[in-house]
Amino acid sequence: MVIKNIDAKTVVAKFALNGYNIHPDAVKLILSSNVDADAVVRETCRRCNGAFIITPDEVSEVIRELEKTRVEKKKALEKKPEVPEKRYEIRILKDVTGRSACRGTVEDFVAYFNSRFEKISGILRNRVKAVPISSLSRIRADVVEIIGFVNSVREINESRAMIEVEDKTGRVRVYAEGKVKEQAMELFGDEIVGVTGRLTGRSILADRIVLPEVPVNGNGKKIRDFSMVFISDIHFGSNTFLHESWEKFISWINCESGNRRLDELAESVRYIFVAGDVVDGIGVYPDQDRELEIDDINAQYEFAAEQFDRIRKDLKIVISPGNHDAVRQAEPQPALPKEFSSLFSGNVTHVGNPCYIDVEGVDVLMYHGRSLDDIISRIPRLSYESPQDAMVELLRRRHLAPLYGERSPIAPEKDDYLVIDDVPDIIHSGHVHTYGTAFYRGVFLVNSSTWQSQTEFQKKVNLNPMPGIVAVYQPGGNIYRLKFYS
Ligand SMILES: [Fe+2]
Repeated sequence: MVIKNIDAKTVVAKFALNGYNIHPDAVKLILSSNVDADAVVRETCRRCNGAFIITPDEVSEVIRELEKTRVEKKKALEKKPEVPEKRYEIRILKDVTGRSACRGTVEDFVAYFNSRFEKISGILRNRVKAVPISSLSRIRADVVEIIGFVNSVREINESRAMIEVEDKTGRVRVYAEGKVKEQAMELFGDEIVGVTGRLTGRSILADRIVLPEVPVNGNGKKIRDFSMVFISDIHFGSNTFLHESWEKFISWINCESGNRRLDELAESVRYIFVAGDVVDGIGVYPDQDRELEIDDINAQYEFAAEQFDRIRKDLKIVISPGNHDAVRQAEPQPALPKEFSSLFSGNVTHVGNPCYIDVEGVDVLMYHGRSLDDIISRIPRLSYESPQDAMVELLRRRHLAPLYGERSPIAPEKDDYLVIDDVPDIIHSGHVHTYGTAFYRGVFLVNSSTWQSQTEFQKKVNLNPMPGIVAVYQPGGNIYRLKFYS
């Protein structure tokens, strides 16, 4: 991956960006070499901690080693290693990859909302005996039950709120007081709820607002004798990527931490899940190029593939994309396209976002987590410090992006892939760069940290990431929180 047309000025500038001066002969060496200039800059700066000026000797050593790696990689690719015998079982249950049919027409949006309504009202119908809203004017009974979209929520005064609920037949005002009012104030527009209450004229005074929820015991307890690792938001290519923490993670997962207990734990791992933002991407936000260590998307994925290739091959790695990856922004997102996914070793499976996966009988739902921003900003009791609480709200609503039209763009597929139709055993998300785990009604929830220190954007919005934390979970057993950043 030689970067073409690079000149001496650019090389000097790249070193200057990292705080180093470089000897002119060292620049010549870089320009005449066959290896990627960015890789030379990166590796030289990593090694020359605190040096005043980068010398030709230092650069030529780096070039020699990179050249050696490049040749070895080329040879290895020529006689592509056989994919290790399929020892473990991963089955993709639901994924938009290869199935996207939406073009963004009005009909697509109608079909999308119908799908959302049918699926979620189907879950609610187990507990709510709903009548059509248009029939309310003819009903004699005092207590009524309805299911519908939340059109709007308005606080009338300290003790009262009004919700407008709509189904396919009509709309009605629902008043909520006391505890029910508190619940009403946490509803989002376009989410689908059940209401039971008393008819008072043309409106309803709610006794209960019913969310789709999950059964008390989820899917029941599943016990397995292996562990799973959950990571996300690695952001390979960013200049805030935490090389040192990543190196420690690689040593640990390869059972080379030097600590017997930790190495035994690593040995128990069969699967690594990566919930998006594998690379930092290009042009994701204004002036991102100032914060990139690798400013080419191909080179970012090449670096990512190299890094995953360092992980022992008896592990299965499942990677889904996030909003920084090179796929469409609107959710559901398909898996990485072939040009990037083919760079990765045979033990890596690329899936879409979201994706339901059956792993030896344990159902894992991976979702990058973009809607967590929306949920956290909408419900005041939630915070970035405790992302698992926001995940609980997604699960209770049985939808991964219940707020339509906020910061999470949604592609109107005919089938709403973001509905949590089947209750999974595990939900894995990321995106907010903070860490947290919880159990909600038997479902293990994990939001999995990041490998990037605080970015300029995060400084501005006062978001303090919790980098380098890895969740290790043995289904039915222990959860370990390993910290690789100090
Ligand atoms: Fe991220």
